[in-house]
Amino acid sequence: MKAVVVYESRWGNTAAVARAIAGGLGAEACALSTAEATGEAIAGADLIVAGAPLLGFSLPTESMLKGLASNAARDPTPPDLSHPSMRSWIDTLPAGSGRAASFETRIWWSPGSAAKAILGKLEAAGYQPIAKAQRFVVQGKYGPLRPGELEKARAWGAELAQATK
Ligand SMILES: Cc1cc2nc3c(=O)[nH]c(=O)nc-3n(C[C@H](O)[C@H](O)[C@H](O)COP(=O)(O)O)c2cc1C
Repeated sequence: MKAVVVYESRWGNTAAVARAIAGGLGAEACALSTAEATGEAIAGADLIVAGAPLLGFSLPTESMLKGLASNAARDPTPPDLSHPSMRSWIDTLPAGSGRAASFETRIWWSPGSAAKAILGKLEAAGYQPIAKAQRFVVQGKYGPLRPGELEKARAWGAELAQATK
């Protein structure tokens, strides 16, 4: 089974979760940023797992990322702006027929869901959801992840591998 975990991550939390999910999925899975997950890299994937942070109660928007970029020079916790948004990555994703799952990282009490938005977009592109949108929780605005979240991510990856068989 070819499984690819694709992430948008500005402060590293979603990237860490993506790597843990890929670890749970098995040796043939990999975690790639939206820049690395080119058409070639994801070609023939049986499962795409896509994740992003919840920012401003939603899947990050282009205007939000522009705001982060314009402030980056004086930001004490500068974001990683090296890769495109999950929104734009999904917009260029070729229609497909593989399976899909999605996740987000977030502060536990917030309204909104990036993961549900991602899953809806993957479904609209023809991918078949195999799990409910999943969330992983951080302890502060920029992280770190709550203790146990990486173990939860790894276990969820293993569940997805089972569900894809
Ligand atoms: C500018 C900004 C806005 C945020 N907005 C929300 C939000 O609306 N709801 C929430 O639950 N968490 C919010 N967070 C917390 C992030 O979702 C959390 O830190 C996430 O893990 C970041 O993921 P990343 O490290 O992969 O970029 C926000 C964080 C920042 C820096």
